[in-house]
Amino acid sequence: MIKQLKQVKRKIVTFFQTPQEKRHALVGPAKLWKMKQDFQINFLKSQGLQPNQKLMDIGCGTLRGGIPLINYLEKGNYYGIEVRNTVLEEGRKELKEHDLEHKEPHLIAFSEFNEIALDAKLDVMLAFSVLIHMEDTIVEKCIEFISKQLGNNGAFYANVNLVSHQDSNWQGFPVVFRTLEFYEALASKNNLKVTTIGSLGELGHISGQELGDKQVMLAFKKA
Ligand SMILES: C[S@@+](CC[C@H](N)C(=O)[O-])C[C@H]1O[C@@H](n2cnc3c(N)ncnc32)[C@H](O)[C@@H]1O
Repeated sequence: MIKQLKQVKRKIVTFFQTPQEKRHALVGPAKLWKMKQDFQINFLKSQGLQPNQKLMDIGCGTLRGGIPLINYLEKGNYYGIEVRNTVLEEGRKELKEHDLEHKEPHLIAFSEFNEIALDAKLDVMLAFSVLIHMEDTIVEKCIEFISKQLGNNGAFYANVNLVSHQDSNWQGFPVVFRTLEFYEALASKNNLKVTTIGSLGELGHISGQELGDKQVMLAFKKA
């Protein structure tokens, strides 16, 4: 009975969602999509992102964060990579609906990081709310990949959970909590150094969700 009531409630909520809320619910809370979109470009601009730089958005999903970045960057400078092809398809629709196909972003579906071979070195790499969904073995491959693709003066930004909490689940992915030492060791193993920039809340990400706003933004650069 409770299960049926929950299903009815979910149907009613979905019925009243806007098309963009429905789409971006594939990558996070429907009502927060715009705040999370604005946060990503504002944060990257605050770190000095310039239109002529090449940027890779790891786990770009529905292009919730990607659309304003594609708009801001020069043609061909946005690289979005994503493991769920159906979700990336929604990103392609979003791109079309925003009339941004002429910006020719590189949208790449993949399974394993070692499948991706790019000649281009990236100035900026971002994984917004992605490392928190990677098991240790996958995050290790991800940081190896970052080290290989990041330009000498480049930076990789990623928000992570540093508080101690029980791991859980989100849309079939784990939600993981690790120590800063874990990321420091991984960075050092891959010739990178990592610094903390601040909590998401301090940086303007106000979701009303305590654990989310407490996540910390890390910056990885070449050691
Ligand atoms: C919380 S969503 C964030 C999406 C996007 N970064 C944004 O903020 O709009 C996390 C995304 O990372 C993707 N993802 C999970 N594991 C991944 C992996 N190993 N490599 C690339 N993408 C991954 C998921 O499919 C999902 O689309």
